Amino acid sequence: MKNKNFFTKAIHVGNAPDEETGAVTSPIHFSSTFKQNEVGVHNGYDYSRAGNPTRERFEKNICSLEDASYGIAFSSGMASITALFQTMSSGDHVIIGRNVYGGTYRMVTQVLSNHGFEFDFVDTRSLNEVESMIKTNTKWVFAETPTNPLLELCDIRALSNLSKSNGLKLAIDNTFMSPYGQSPIGLGADVVMHSATKFIGGHSDLIAGVLITNDSVLAENLYFIQKSGGAILSPFDSWLLLRSTKTLALRFQRHSDNAMAIAKTLQDFSRVKSVLYPGLQSHNQYDLATKQQKNPMGKSIYGSIISFECQTKRMRDLFLEKIKLFTLAESLGGVESLVCTPYDMTHASVPARIKKSMGLSPNLVRLSVGIEYLEDLINDLAQALDE
Ligand SMILES: Cc1ncc(COP(=O)(O)O)c(C=O)c1O
Repeated sequence: MKNKNFFTKAIHVGNAPDEETGAVTSPIHFSSTFKQNEVGVHNGYDYSRAGNPTRERFEKNICSLEDASYGIAFSSGMASITALFQTMSSGDHVIIGRNVYGGTYRMVTQVLSNHGFEFDFVDTRSLNEVESMIKTNTKWVFAETPTNPLLELCDIRALSNLSKSNGLKLAIDNTFMSPYGQSPIGLGADVVMHSATKFIGGHSDLIAGVLITNDSVLAENLYFIQKSGGAILSPFDSWLLLRSTKTLALRFQRHSDNAMAIAKTLQDFSRVKSVLYPGLQSHNQYDLATKQQKNPMGKSIYGSIISFECQTKRMRDLFLEKIKLFTLAESLGGVESLVCTPYDMTHASVPARIKKSMGLSPNLVRLSVGIEYLEDLINDLAQALDE
C-alpha cells in the first residue's frame, strides 16, 4: 500500500480480515509458543519473543504511516531508545539533543555511559554546534523535534545532510508530532523513534515504543536486539495500538486545532509571562515549524503541546489548584487534556544546573491539549488564570 493515503493505510495496513474466521478485526494471538509440523518447520512463528502475529500486524501498520519498510515494536519508548543504542559498540560516540526527554537523559548519562558509549549533549537547533562535536568515533546524531517542554526545533533536512556528509546516522524522536504531523524519514532521517504511549496509543492506557526505518541492515540488527533483549510489545498492547492508529489522523488534527486556538488565547492573560508554541508567529522557529511539520494533506501543523511560563511560582500553583479539565499528570498525547510542571515532574532527574542552562524555569507549565470541546477547555483555562 505504498501509494495509498495516510487515512487509508492507518485502517487497512496490518488489518486484513482473519483468514481462518473472516473476523474483520484482527485476532489477538496470546500464544507464547507455536506448533512445529516437524523439527524446525513451522508456519512462520516459533516463539512470541522472536515473532508474534499481532505484533507483526502493528509493526506493518505503523511503519506504513512513516512511509517506511520496517517497524520494530518494544515494550516502551525507553526500551526502543535503548535498543537503538545497543546497535553500537563500546567506544562509539553519539551527539544528542541537550533537552531530550528526561528519561532519555537519565538512560544515557546513568546507564549507557557506564557501558562504554560516549554521549555529548548539544543544542540541535544549531548545525554549527552539532558539527563541532563530530569526532572520529561518532556514529549517531539523536534529536527530538520539537523538544519537551521548551518546544525547540531542529531542521531535520539540514541535520540529515550534515550527518550524511560525515558518515553518521540520524535518529529523530518524533513522539511530539506523531507520524501524522511530521515525516522525518522523508526529510532524510535514518530512523524514527516514537513513544507510542503518547499520540499513537492516544488513550493513556498503555506503554509502548517503536523504531521505524528503511535501512534493511539496521532493521535486521534491531529485530535481533528485540528478540535477544526481549523488551517486546505484548500481543494485547499491539492490538490496542492497531485499533488506535485507525483514529490517529482524526485525533492528531483535532489535538492540534484545539492547541492552536488555546495558544493564541493564553497570550492574553496577565498572569502568563510567555507562551511557547511553534504555531505562534512569536515562536522564534515558526518558519521552520511551518515548513517542516506537515500533515498528510501538506498543511502545516503544530501539535498539541503548549508550554507557558507564569509570572511567579505562586501564580503557577494557583493555576494548578483551580484548573479542572486538565488533569495534573505526566505524559501527553491522550484524548484527555493534561497539565504538568516539567521542572519538577518530567525533568525531575535532570540536574538543576542543566535545567538552568536550558532555560527551563520552575514556573513553566506544560499543557497536553486533548480533543475535548474547545470552548470548554478555554473557559476552564480562563477561570484558572483569572486575577
Ligand atoms: C519525547 C519522548 N521520548 C521518549 C519517551 C519515553 O517513552 P516511554 O515513556 O514510552 O518509555 C517519552 C516519554 O514521555 C517522551 O516524551
